[in-house]
Amino acid sequence: MKVLGLESSCDETAAAVVEDGTRVLADVISSQAQIHAKYGGVVPELASRHHVVNLIPVLEAALEQAGLGLDGIDGVAVTRGPGLVGALLVAVQAAKAMAWARRLPLVGVHHLEGHLTAVFLEPAAGQPVSAPSFPHVALLVSGGHTSLFLVEGQGRYRELGATRDDAAGEAFDKVAKLLGLGYPGGAVIDRLAKTGDPRAIVLPRPLKRRAELDFSFSGLKTWMRTWLDGHGLPEGQALADLCASFQHAVVTSLVSKTREAVRQTGVGEVQISGGVAANSWLRAEMQRAGDADGFRVFVPPPRRCTDNAAMIAAAGYHRLVAGERAGIDLNAEANLPLGSA
Ligand code: KG4
Ligand code: ZN
Repeated sequence: MKVLGLESSCDETAAAVVEDGTRVLADVISSQAQIHAKYGGVVPELASRHHVVNLIPVLEAALEQAGLGLDGIDGVAVTRGPGLVGALLVAVQAAKAMAWARRLPLVGVHHLEGHLTAVFLEPAAGQPVSAPSFPHVALLVSGGHTSLFLVEGQGRYRELGATRDDAAGEAFDKVAKLLGLGYPGGAVIDRLAKTGDPRAIVLPRPLKRRAELDFSFSGLKTWMRTWLDGHGLPEGQALADLCASFQHAVVTSLVSKTREAVRQTGVGEVQISGGVAANSWLRAEMQRAGDADGFRVFVPPPRRCTDNAAMIAAAGYHRLVAGERAGIDLNAEANLPLGSA
């Protein structure tokens, strides 16, 4: 079954075609990061307008990459939330129009369910899928969310913990802004940290009580602001050391809570997903923790960690196969709890 996926929840316009939830026949992403960079964050109205402009070219590029016309598509999946409502509506309306005109089955997908399904896709064309079995622990770390889930089956989740304030990606982005590194800053901090010493500066460890599975990152951001007020903006090696130390603090919190979730649930497999799962230090430290504690770690390739439509098509495939169908009244929802799409 070939599913066309569409995604426009934030600042990426994306379309993909995925066969049977694993084989990626096309995966096209148009990022607006450059447009929003000068504002230091996503401007909702601008995002919606650019989705309107980009959606058709991105869709056409995806169909061309897959070597298919719309008559070769068996179903349409679209992100219906959570996200910026004006941005979400662009892909939702396009998906409804196509499904209605072509009499194709349609399904609405929760954006986070998309992230949690990315690990079930072929990492690259023809490469075998290496995915966790059920149940497993999922650390979902993006720009808007940071949560630990017990994934009991396809589409079945139990939240074990979540951030009480900022998401991990938001912390990366806000600290990058304080350091004058532009938006989005996670990937820039990751790159600068590669030549830094993660133990150069010791940052506080938020919510370090062992049994606690919640996160908190706003204190780290405040700590960084206070440090910068006292020391000024570092450059060169000092900047690399500061980036590495901040990144280490965030990653230590993410990894230690994941270890604790594994201990409490007794499962042997972990997946990491969402934009921050592209972080090289998080990927390496989680692997080290898995080796030490005896759990297996699954992470999609970096390109599939950040927003894309292949993950939406894959999540949609499982829902379509289970018989789920959305009507022409499908709507975008800015705040959508996981498990409701
Ligand atoms: O999943 P995503 O693309 O969008 C949301 O659903 O939020 O995640 C975007 C977030 C941004 O905060 C971005 O700075 C962060 O992921 N990010 C990274 C890296 N690449 C993207 N954070 C740390 N290290 C990276 N390499
Ligand atoms: Zn996302």
